[in-house]
Amino acid sequence: MKVLVIGSGGREHAIVDACVRAGHEVLCTPGNPGIAEQARVLASAQDALALAELAAQEGADVVIVGPEAYLAAGVVDECERRGIPAFGPSQAASRLEGDKAWSKAFMVRHGIPTAQHQSFADLGAALTHAATRTPPIVVKDAGLKAGKGVTIAHTVAEAEAALRDIFTQAGAQAVIEDFMTGQEVSILALTDGERYALTPPSQDHKTIHEGDTGPMTGGMGVICPFPVTPEQMEVIRRDIVEKTLAGMRAEGTPFRGVLYAGLMLTPQGPKVVEFNARFGDPEAEAVLPLLESDLARHALDAAQGQLDPESVRFGGGASAVVILAAPGYPAEPQKGIPLTLPEPQEGAKVFHAGTAQKGGQLVSSGGRVLAVTGFGDTREQALTRAYALAERIGFEGAQLRRDIGFRIR
Ligand code: GLY
Repeated sequence: MKVLVIGSGGREHAIVDACVRAGHEVLCTPGNPGIAEQARVLASAQDALALAELAAQEGADVVIVGPEAYLAAGVVDECERRGIPAFGPSQAASRLEGDKAWSKAFMVRHGIPTAQHQSFADLGAALTHAATRTPPIVVKDAGLKAGKGVTIAHTVAEAEAALRDIFTQAGAQAVIEDFMTGQEVSILALTDGERYALTPPSQDHKTIHEGDTGPMTGGMGVICPFPVTPEQMEVIRRDIVEKTLAGMRAEGTPFRGVLYAGLMLTPQGPKVVEFNARFGDPEAEAVLPLLESDLARHALDAAQGQLDPESVRFGGGASAVVILAAPGYPAEPQKGIPLTLPEPQEGAKVFHAGTAQKGGQLVSSGGRVLAVTGFGDTREQALTRAYALAERIGFEGAQLRRDIGFRIR
């Protein structure tokens, strides 16, 4: 099959890698230098229409869309209009991630467990409400923020500052919700809108500093599998994934692609922290190396409404991802720092997230620069391999967390 992957980060590198492993011809736009070693990289098209045209010109058998912004721009709809199967939700269904106020209201309508919340389109009302809350207060920007639109405010003043920041944008909306306690876990469902297969549960580490402190980032590392009890898994399947897919069908916007359920395993049971409409990043770099079956085949089947969940097979092992981020990330990542990569190492792989070639030299070009995945029989082995490879990377001033998996070690 000829597969076109859209995107340029670590997640897309992991998607490309999975499709290449399954023996497909892979194209990627806009790609990155790591992807270019495994796939044919095409110049970046500017919008959903141009991307769908590119897929048509290249004769792609299936398109796999990585980042949420392309989904929200309607690239899947444009591909479908041209008869090209595309793996990802339609523009309307991607609202589950793109509009957090709508998404929370959807969960309430369908009895999907989540934190109590209120949504605001007006700063004054939001500030008045925040003043009545007991910290910690969770403040979310309702729009797309690449995983960085959430503040856990430990004082009312912090919540107010976060709200003022959100409402500097025209048309902004904010969600204020109850703080939930427990372990966080990411579950990704590959789905054709009705049938689905779950990836192994994983745990992302979202803040920049060890011990889950400091500002939120797009994710600094992942441990997989994260232990979830059969009882919790039953609730996740029945009350979260199945109710969500049924609700989206009932509302006339069936959800195809990857339903990313960001969950809190609270003392009262699993509850949704947020939904995303695509593979997580860096969760993709953790779960896709464990996939033994053919990602492109699943993507095509799901896009055509005929996913066979039994055919989706993950190996029984474990994986760990360690992110190397640029100095200054997440506020002001420094770009253009030279990178040197070691020879390949067994049981580990480097995925490029924010890299570029400049005058023949590989340099940093984003906040999260490299995702190093280790895999093995156990989580300990996966972590040891990931850190061993990360240590051998030349990257002056790199930030990395040395405590990935600390909550279950
Ligand atoms: N890892 C968080 C996200 O993909 O949004």
